[in-house]
Amino acid sequence: MSRSAKIEDDTPNIARRAEADLDPKDWQTFRQEAHRGLDLMIDYLSRVRERKVWQPASDSVRARFRARLPQKGKPLSDLIDEFEQFMLPYANGNLHPLFMGWVHGAGTPVGMVAEMLAAGLNANCGGRDHIAIEVEKQIALWLAEALEFPRESSGVFVTGTSMANLVAALVARTHALGEPVRRSGLREAPYQLVGYASQEAHGSIERAFEIAGIGSAFLRRLPVDRSRKMNVEALRGVIAGDRAAGFLPLLVVGSAGTVNTGSIDDLDALAGLCAEEDLWFHIDGAFGALCVLSPDLKPLVKGIERADSIALDFHKWLHVPYDAGFFLCRHPQAHRETFMSTAAYLARAPRGLAAADIWPCDLGPDLSRGFRALKTWFAFQAFGAERLGDAIAQTCRVARHLESLIERSAAFELCAGARLNIVCFSVQGDATGELNREVVMDLHETGLAAPSITRLEGRPVIRAAIVNHRTRAADMDVFVAAAETSLKRLRAARAGS
Ligand SMILES: Cc1ncc(COP(=O)(O)O)c(C=O)c1O
Repeated sequence: MSRSAKIEDDTPNIARRAEADLDPKDWQTFRQEAHRGLDLMIDYLSRVRERKVWQPASDSVRARFRARLPQKGKPLSDLIDEFEQFMLPYANGNLHPLFMGWVHGAGTPVGMVAEMLAAGLNANCGGRDHIAIEVEKQIALWLAEALEFPRESSGVFVTGTSMANLVAALVARTHALGEPVRRSGLREAPYQLVGYASQEAHGSIERAFEIAGIGSAFLRRLPVDRSRKMNVEALRGVIAGDRAAGFLPLLVVGSAGTVNTGSIDDLDALAGLCAEEDLWFHIDGAFGALCVLSPDLKPLVKGIERADSIALDFHKWLHVPYDAGFFLCRHPQAHRETFMSTAAYLARAPRGLAAADIWPCDLGPDLSRGFRALKTWFAFQAFGAERLGDAIAQTCRVARHLESLIERSAAFELCAGARLNIVCFSVQGDATGELNREVVMDLHETGLAAPSITRLEGRPVIRAAIVNHRTRAADMDVFVAAAETSLKRLRAARAGS
């Protein structure tokens, strides 16, 4: 058999069908259905307060999502019905003013529209010369302005701060060891790299060390002082000890708002130490970096402007729809050298669509990526930095109100007051934290409020992170009353059993 005949034999036998695309056959019907979907969500958003914070999906609802792969399509109207009936009621709850778990943004109606527009455009923001890339650069410029970074700083959207912290570890590594480390790997490093963060720093930093191949055993966890800030003098000593022992100190990660209590490291002191020690200074500012938008809160993050890089999320305190993390870097060259690829099919052209010098794919691990910049651009344009900063400051005032309620409560005791927007408290005398866990689960199941649990000094405590722009001081009165009722019920059930 000749070679060409063999190739023909391998060609799949595709049945002849009429040519078709995936666009609606009837645009008018599609328009009506699409408008119904939009109206559904506008109704949903305008009535957030009327619903429970959360309710679990029943087994029969969950079973619907174990179905076989559909072979034939259904009308859009059926899908919107299914979404309304079987998904909307069982959402995460983070839009609700009494959702206070973890660190969740609440979204905005404006963000929803922006997300729809971006989906319609379906831009691939890995690179090339199109307007979405300019919008992303605009966000980097705005962020550099707000954080007082140089205008030439480079920035890139990523999924979230976990990814941005990983990007930071990789860029710091390239900066320290040079671009060849990408090929040779860390085996070729002259010494074992080490990094530093406080005991309160987010777990994603540890994971970044693991994924970057440095190893989480080489992330030194520094002790914190009474206000849960990293002990800078202790850090100085540990760095000296590491140098003496033949390690290569690489970077210090400061926290601008820790996930447990919202405490902020002394960023200015850390910046000074990193300058003296010639170390990369990265800041995990997942939510706290955006304190710079509020004149009242900005002094708390003094020193942030001296960092080498910052990781933050627009999807948390700025309520841009998920996901919208960002990595901002003072050293554009080290940033590019960490990720730039020479793949032939990504070569730049002097003119045309493949023109432009730096593409976002040169600044992070992703190639294909969506238009996250648009929803962020909409947020800044629709509300303005001042109003966004006010909404952030408001959550901190609400948290202080919660703190005062807990201080006056006969049932609860304060474990960590509102340094920023997070309050941790416990059932009085609950040494094991078991009742704290029960109260939180009970509140979730009643649908009245959704705080979460964290551990402080080894004990599970109730943690309320006020991130939502919709949350008011009066909601905290409702929350504490609901928690007290829940505790009484639990105690009564225990006494009765
Ligand atoms: C301080 C801090 N760092 C990092 C993260 C991780 O961010 P993401 O969930 O966007 O990856 C969080 C999440 O809450 C956080 O609070």
